Amino acid sequence: MAYAQPSTAPTWWRGAVIYEVYPRSFADGNGDGTGDLAGLRSRLPYLRDLGIDAIWVTPWYVSPLADGGYDVADYRAIDPAFGTLEEAEALIADALALGIRTIIDIVPNHVSEQHAWFQAALAAGPGSPERERFWFHPGKGEDGSEIPTRWVSDFQGSTWTRTTNPDGSPGEWYLHLFAPQQPDLNWSHPDVRAEFEDVLRFWFDRGVAGIRIDSAALLVKDHTLPEYREEHGPGEHPHVDRDEIHDVYRAWRKLADSYEGTRVLVGEVWLADRARFAQYLRPDEMHTAFNFDFMARPWDAAAMRESIDTTLAAHGPVGAPATWVLSNHDVTRPVTRYGRRDSSFSFAAKRFGTPTDLAVGRRRARAAALLTAALPGSLYLYQGDELGLPEVEDLPRELIQDPMHVRSQGVDPGRDGCRVPLPWAGSEPPFGFSPDGTATWLPQPAQWAGLTVQAQASDPASMLHLYRDVLRARRAEPALGDGPFAWLDAGADVLAFARGDLACVVNLGSEPVDLPPHADVLLTSDPLERGRLPRDTAAWLRLATGSPDASRPGTEEATSTP
Ligand code: NOJ
Repeated sequence: MAYAQPSTAPTWWRGAVIYEVYPRSFADGNGDGTGDLAGLRSRLPYLRDLGIDAIWVTPWYVSPLADGGYDVADYRAIDPAFGTLEEAEALIADALALGIRTIIDIVPNHVSEQHAWFQAALAAGPGSPERERFWFHPGKGEDGSEIPTRWVSDFQGSTWTRTTNPDGSPGEWYLHLFAPQQPDLNWSHPDVRAEFEDVLRFWFDRGVAGIRIDSAALLVKDHTLPEYREEHGPGEHPHVDRDEIHDVYRAWRKLADSYEGTRVLVGEVWLADRARFAQYLRPDEMHTAFNFDFMARPWDAAAMRESIDTTLAAHGPVGAPATWVLSNHDVTRPVTRYGRRDSSFSFAAKRFGTPTDLAVGRRRARAAALLTAALPGSLYLYQGDELGLPEVEDLPRELIQDPMHVRSQGVDPGRDGCRVPLPWAGSEPPFGFSPDGTATWLPQPAQWAGLTVQAQASDPASMLHLYRDVLRARRAEPALGDGPFAWLDAGADVLAFARGDLACVVNLGSEPVDLPPHADVLLTSDPLERGRLPRDTAAWLRLATGSPDASRPGTEEATSTP
């Protein structure tokens, strides 16, 4: 079947489908067991056929990989394990020729300890201008042996590590909100601002269509280094979401807008306060930000409905489209999460041995694909979710590299379970990810033989088929993507809404339900039962011409466009 063409409009990003590539685990072109740019380039036709508009590639820069590449040693060079700058340029061009834009990851909060600036700061010693680009600070106590603050790292433990002076004596401490290998930059320093604007230009000049901004709410810190207190109001937290941060994104937006074509800023903004979140999406700041609130919700109609409502209500006033995200390289795969008794997501709750029912999870993940693809705004799809891969929960402990696991003394399983190399073809590992006989950087489960792209491509009931159908239909339906949205009343356990003459209905209850009046059934996530929608199933319906559903009294009109 022919594919509708991707949008060429300057507002393409408002309704785009963006596929997250974690290059280390996507496809291995040089046969060393680690994914790379050659592998990604060779699989671009697969992504075109899936029906996506853009890829977001997680960090591909030179990195010691202390945090899977989020510890960047050189923002202008590709890690040799992944390829070369020329290959990155060729990838951007090849993808564009297939109608796929490239969004890259920018990591501004911290650098790698191997970054030239940090090495220079260590060598230059206390009081040097080189140290002012970071957060070096003397310790408390007479001998400076106590941490400057008790701020807690996102990767557990302290946010401070003590340095050793060039003469071998114990020195100052430096701040790292993540691992010690990721020293935080000082965003009040003009060098830091100028450097990142230059990095943005470097990549915009090479044709990238946008940037995903890592840890976007964390950049600015309170210089007085106070302890965090409950009484801290919005904007007063010592290192999260401080008001001054918006200057940075205003400057970046100006820079992006100075380029031809639309260059989008996509923020990784983890904030519970929806009004504060929306501030990042004001017309002169970022274009969009990930909707983690929805991603973390359990499989429960009321919880999801509330998230959809608060999401649309928060985005409306700033005129930004919402985003819908089921997972990414940091969180538990949907097939596994939705099969759990508690199907919400939180980093703190992750433990080994949490039971899941994968059959239930898979049904729900299929229905969630229809749900999220029908909601107004743009859609993110993490590699492997289109194959319905489960989280790999039995990786040999000694092979887990994620600092979240290592720094928790092995209590937190970490995030490697969703980063296992993709299965492409064949009946045993490495499933076409690497040449036969190659050990992949994380081992793939033997049970993935039925989940390879090859196996699913020929199975009309597979997750891959479903995703292809969903994305094809989404592209063909002008009412989907960005645009108006209206709830339909279909009962407490059912999410039902209209998008123009189309409706999406999702049954999260325990019994089959009747479908609302409709002219046609376009797609279902699993077969209907005698015309009724079974539990954990979603359907896209064509409403009858002139159907009053989308505007009838009692339904609430909401829109993602102002
Ligand atoms: C968010 C990224 O998605 C995650 O993988 C990383 O560990 C942290 N930011 C720190 O850069």
